[in-house]
Amino acid sequence: MVMIAPSILSADFGHLHQEISALDKAGADLIHIDVMDGHYVPNLTFGPGIIRQIRPYTSLPFDVHLMVDNPETAAGWFISAGADIVTVHAEACKHLDAVLNSIRERGCKAGVSLNPSTPETVLEYVLDKVDLILVMTVNPGFGGQVFLPEQLKKIARIKSMIGSRDIKIEVDGGINAMTAAECSAAGADILVAGTAVFASKDYRKNIDALR
Ligand code: DX5
Ligand code: ZN
Repeated sequence: MVMIAPSILSADFGHLHQEISALDKAGADLIHIDVMDGHYVPNLTFGPGIIRQIRPYTSLPFDVHLMVDNPETAAGWFISAGADIVTVHAEACKHLDAVLNSIRERGCKAGVSLNPSTPETVLEYVLDKVDLILVMTVNPGFGGQVFLPEQLKKIARIKSMIGSRDIKIEVDGGINAMTAAECSAAGADILVAGTAVFASKDYRKNIDALR
């Protein structure tokens, strides 16, 4: 069964803790937290202080997606703040292998994200060091963008590279009921969705529609 990770990028930031509790009650599997630094992507969002403050409002895993320069420095801050999974962009890491090792050494799950233009071949030598591969199905930075269908081929290729390893494939960007089905058919295990989950107040209905 596919897992749903609502992205709080589309939540009401003025009532973040109520939004987290509501997603928990609505049947979310993970809480996806988009960290943007205004450099790696042209948008700014959450720092570790915010994550620490919303941590008590759910026991669901915090799936932290770092869209930042120098993720090797920032990863530790977010692990201390309560992240369960920290995902870094392969394109932002000078030493991807070392960054993944250091995340796991701190007792956290390690993820790698690939932008739409990045080929899956960059994963070949780190497959034994990752718990999650995040395929961006839009260019990172903003919610509400249109799904890029050519990424379906990448999902399927990564699925076959993974083989029997215990690695989840997550997709992020432009996920709605239609693209959810296509991604899951291609091999995705976790669907991130912002716009589709927060489209109306009935979060349970919106999450169920994606499933
Ligand atoms: C984009 C973020 C996404 C974003 C998805 O850079 O990584 O997680 O919230 O938003 P939607 O579902 O609106 O495309
Ligand atoms: Zn994201």
